[in-house]
Amino acid sequence: MKKKNNIVLIGFMGVGKGATARALRDELNLFNLDCDDMIESAYNMKIKNIFKEFGEKKFRQMEQNLAKYLEKSVNNSIISTGGGFYKVKNLKNIGTIIYLKSSFEGIMDRIKQSPNANKKIEKRPLLKDIQKAKELHKKRDKEYKKVADIIIDVENKKIKNIIKEINKELKKDKS
Ligand code: S3P
Repeated sequence: MKKKNNIVLIGFMGVGKGATARALRDELNLFNLDCDDMIESAYNMKIKNIFKEFGEKKFRQMEQNLAKYLEKSVNNSIISTGGGFYKVKNLKNIGTIIYLKSSFEGIMDRIKQSPNANKKIEKRPLLKDIQKAKELHKKRDKEYKKVADIIIDVENKKIKNIIKEINKELKKDKS
């Protein structure tokens, strides 16, 4: 099957997948979808409450069901994912996978600099324990690299430059 023409942004919590998706949407004049927002809206529940009430396993099933839907029904879109979405079985069938990469320290600095830093930590159950989150980042960095078609180092970069780099890589990918 020919690869679908969605652009799928993966990477660790807080790295800026949502903001990058919105900027890329405007640059490419496309539409963007956010996996966490789609799950929250479908189940009418916040992610942190899904984790609390049903557990992480059930959340991962929701992500897998969403992934099936995206593969079957979505085209021409920029898709920002939750940090664990890369594990869905059909990831590569959804589109071109772009890993937004940063060190754990870079991510935590980015979160702390935002005006609603506490809210950003509070809504992410897997960011509560910083030591565990750091270990998770180390493990996932390797896994994100394995599944990515394109890797963009976003640490300390302005969104404008990140978009430029993505565009350049997408053009290479097509040729
Ligand atoms: C998760 C990341 C979160 C959200 C959930 C689990 C993860 O999304 O999907 O809390 O496993 O890394 P963000 O990457 O947008 O924070």
